[in-house]
Amino acid sequence: MKPNIILAIESSCDETSAAVVQNTDDGVKILSNIIASSADLQAKYGGVVPEQAARAQLESIIPVIQESLDQAKISKEDIDAIAVTQGPGLIGSLLIGVESAKVLATVWDKPLVPVNHLIGHFYANWIVTGRPEDQNSQESENTPKFPCIGLLVSGGHTDLVLFESHGEYKYLGGTRDDAAGEAFDKTARLLGLPYPGGPVISKLAEKGNPKAYHLPRPMIDSGDLDFSFSGLKTAVFNLISELGSEKLTEKTIADLCASIEEAIVDILVRKTVRASQRYNIEQIIVAGGVAANRKLTEELTKTVQTKTPRARIFIPPPRLCTDNAAYIGAAAFYNYYPEDSLKIQANPNLSLSKNDS
Ligand code: KG4
Ligand code: ZN
Repeated sequence: MKPNIILAIESSCDETSAAVVQNTDDGVKILSNIIASSADLQAKYGGVVPEQAARAQLESIIPVIQESLDQAKISKEDIDAIAVTQGPGLIGSLLIGVESAKVLATVWDKPLVPVNHLIGHFYANWIVTGRPEDQNSQESENTPKFPCIGLLVSGGHTDLVLFESHGEYKYLGGTRDDAAGEAFDKTARLLGLPYPGGPVISKLAEKGNPKAYHLPRPMIDSGDLDFSFSGLKTAVFNLISELGSEKLTEKTIADLCASIEEAIVDILVRKTVRASQRYNIEQIIVAGGVAANRKLTEELTKTVQTKTPRARIFIPPPRLCTDNAAYIGAAAFYNYYPEDSLKIQANPNLSLSKNDS
């Protein structure tokens, strides 16, 4: 029997999240979506420290799950299944979510669905929020149709895939070194800005000139659908060394942020449009923390409208782009394959490319 209500758990990196989601004819509805993150610790140490993240998650997992049930106003009897992020991610963090889900599934006697976090990100596009500001189009169809090109841009991954249907996809390309989010985070660190770098760079970029510094766009003209961002990081490092710390004024930092953001966005837009044109596909779905970037959203929409006017782009609202359990639950509805609860193991090495069909 297909589930109607799923309790989902996500703990792959720094966030501890639990959500209750409901399947409807129009898409997945969020009944609750609780996210706890150790943002203070990240800011202090300039990133996620795995042991600290796991320790904080161990403390927050049960209260977060309880709050998700309370906020959704449901009890354990109402839950049809449990979904959990199996990987990829930090092993200590994954274990906390996976082992908690296994215990609950066993004690409550519920089916347990393991979800690949990377696939999960894409399912933020199948969530209907009902909020006017979240409507990504004026058209009546609210969820993507197949086939579609998927661009995943997160802190650890940058991948392009072609979805034929739910769970069936072809890997088209990905980063050969740093991920797009990592490029934001690492260049922010070079500029002395706090973690996570993406939102900070994006905010400062609003006051900067994106043409002030010409930064490289590695592999932008390579015929393939792969990415590379480490050269950009090196170029920013060299530029900062040349300028010297006394020249790093507020204005210079804003200009550098705008130039970095534009370089990253240019690369992502070019390769995504290329993928959609090469495979003649008119639906594009974007996912991952970097999809919360407004410039990326605007540039991708503008370019696609010019180059392939019939194409339709789906980008989740920013709060559903970054890690949260709601999309893990959504993914489980459309890929409902419960496994033996006691046998599911956290797998930090899951990827998208291994399902190469
Ligand atoms: O998907 P996510 O929450 O976690 C992973 O699964 O990695 O992505 C986190 C990444 C970080 O690198 C962060 O800097 C980036 O997403 N990010 C952004 C923005 N918001 C988050 N990058 C650019 N612009 C943003 N507004
Ligand atoms: Zn993620």
